[in-house]
Amino acid sequence: MSNIMEKNIDHVLLSEEELRDRIRVMGDQISADYAGKEPMLVSVLRGSYIFMADLTRALSIPCTVDFMAVSSYGSGTTSSGQVNIIKDLSDSIEGKDVIVVEDILDSGNTLHYLFQVLQARHPASLRLCTLLDKPSRRVKPIKADYVGFTVPDKFVVGYGLDYDERYRNLPYIGVLKPQVYQNS
Ligand code: PRP
Repeated sequence: MSNIMEKNIDHVLLSEEELRDRIRVMGDQISADYAGKEPMLVSVLRGSYIFMADLTRALSIPCTVDFMAVSSYGSGTTSSGQVNIIKDLSDSIEGKDVIVVEDILDSGNTLHYLFQVLQARHPASLRLCTLLDKPSRRVKPIKADYVGFTVPDKFVVGYGLDYDERYRNLPYIGVLKPQVYQNS
């Protein structure tokens, strides 16, 4: 570990190879589950942008993509129940088989709210695919249909996930050194 970002990483939690192998399996599973259909994958920005790019390329079935951005108001490292839609979808989801693609499911506040919003638009089906799941932090009763990895309650960054908007471009998922966020 040599670059300016990597000096703040305590250790690698999920390597590039582990991510690639797991996402390939997830892609196969979703392709089999949606055989004969054309799901619409909805990426929740910004954290999911890299996972979305790799997951869609791991599918062997046709799909469409759309994007939305939400903000959750919370202090520091936790989200709250209040969620705002910053950017809405471009297309209607009515009658579509929608798969929401997230980087991490943590308290569940964001997804709990988002699923209410999307369900009210009458998709044919609505499922959740998350790369990371932190069940130990859940406050809302929400479960993902597809989970890449269950992770411990550590501050993870990289592969789309940020701390203070940085580290998203690390190609792996690492655990941030606590002094980085404790000193700010
Ligand atoms: C992350 C993640 C989820 C949310 C999960 O987004 O992408 O949307 O937090 O947390 P929750 O389960 O506690 O609601 P974040 O707010 O960090 O924004 P980002 O995607 O732009 O990084």
